[in-house]
Amino acid sequence: MTEPDTAATLPAATANTHVHELQIVEVIRETTEAVSLVFEVPDLLVPRFRHRPGQFLTLRIPSDRTGSVARCYSLSSSPHLDDDLIITVKRTEGGYASNWLCDNAVPGLRLTTLSPSGVFTPKSLDADLLMIAAGSGITPVMSIIKSALIAGTGAVYLFYANRDASSVIFGTELADMMAEYPDRLIVDHWLESTMGLPTAEAMTERLWPYTGFDAFLCGPTAFMHMARSAMIAAGMAERHVHTEIYQSLTGDPFADIVIARDDSETPATATVDLDGRRLELRWPRHTPLLDVLLAGGHDAPYSCREGACSACACSVRSGEVRMLRNDTLVEADLALGLTLACQAVPLTDHVDIAFDQ
Ligand SMILES: Cc1cc2nc3c(=O)[nH]c(=O)nc-3n(C[C@H](O)[C@H](O)[C@H](O)COP(=O)(O)OP(=O)(O)OC[C@H]3O[C@@H](n4cnc5c(N)ncnc54)[C@H](O)[C@@H]3O)c2cc1C
Ligand code: FES
Repeated sequence: MTEPDTAATLPAATANTHVHELQIVEVIRETTEAVSLVFEVPDLLVPRFRHRPGQFLTLRIPSDRTGSVARCYSLSSSPHLDDDLIITVKRTEGGYASNWLCDNAVPGLRLTTLSPSGVFTPKSLDADLLMIAAGSGITPVMSIIKSALIAGTGAVYLFYANRDASSVIFGTELADMMAEYPDRLIVDHWLESTMGLPTAEAMTERLWPYTGFDAFLCGPTAFMHMARSAMIAAGMAERHVHTEIYQSLTGDPFADIVIARDDSETPATATVDLDGRRLELRWPRHTPLLDVLLAGGHDAPYSCREGACSACACSVRSGEVRMLRNDTLVEADLALGLTLACQAVPLTDHVDIAFDQ
């Protein structure tokens, strides 16, 4: 049985293989409010940064006030086209990390990041794709579109809303792609400066021809709600609508992993299928499964460590767990037996779990 040190405090960077440093090699000013940061991936780390289009990095941004904050940024680069990793950051008014990156990122700067993560990615790049983005929501959408055009065979329709022409990120690149793939890509720009805010009626009108497509939606919360209901009104099945919600992490996924000693209770036990291996673990009853795994040196997937991203989702095959927090799994996920490893503590003496998502 693999036993974590039950009174251990392990620095996240040494306790697992997800924490790395990458160097910025180029900064591209996309608009007055948005920059793309290009990271070089050293040969040794290439396997760690293999990713799917639509996934994101979790960066540690330095702060004089708190030491650091953690923020997620979607990759705008395509794993099918770009060797480097590119994120695109738009300033948030009154925000901290986005403005720090826009003001301080220069070639040569090294930043700490977790390996890519996320489930906002098409199952097949050959599918027909309905992409809906507003503002910086274009970032993961861009990665998916580039990948689908290069490595897939389907048609792509993009509805892309912005305040005005000067705030459109990747405008030239999208126009070039439309010229290169005229039979496969349609880009439909919506500019608030001339057309007003997009309405559900206007979107339903535009989207109904694409209701058989797989839909990917990313933008501000109000826009996402409106676009989602427009899609459903247009006749799209809920299960075909995938969303990426932009929110700032409140916790610190880079924080040390603490396995508290509790001599008053016998630990539970767990059987965990992870990366083709079957692990037998002692599971202290108040410690989330992810911490037990990372402390034991096992390479379990995660990003936020606060129940918000679902990167650590896994299936409970027998036994029961309780989640300390869950901001991401919906009823349908729970009915399938999914749980979040970063929040799951055992309720039964033995639990059988598989990382099969
Ligand atoms: C999966 C995912 C993908 C994302 N992809 C992108 C993307 O591609 N592009 C993009 O632009 N955004 C993206 N985001 C959003 C991004 O993660 C941030 O939420 C966004 O940049 C706003 O962060 P901010 O710190 O600038 O603003 P806020 O989070 O609004 O900043 C305010 C917060 O910072 C704290 N703060 C203020 N000053 C300091 C200080 N000196 N030190 C420490 N803390 C301070 C405040 O207390 C407050 O909590 C994504 C989010 C997610 C979840
Ligand atoms: S790591 Fe994000 S929900 Fe668990």
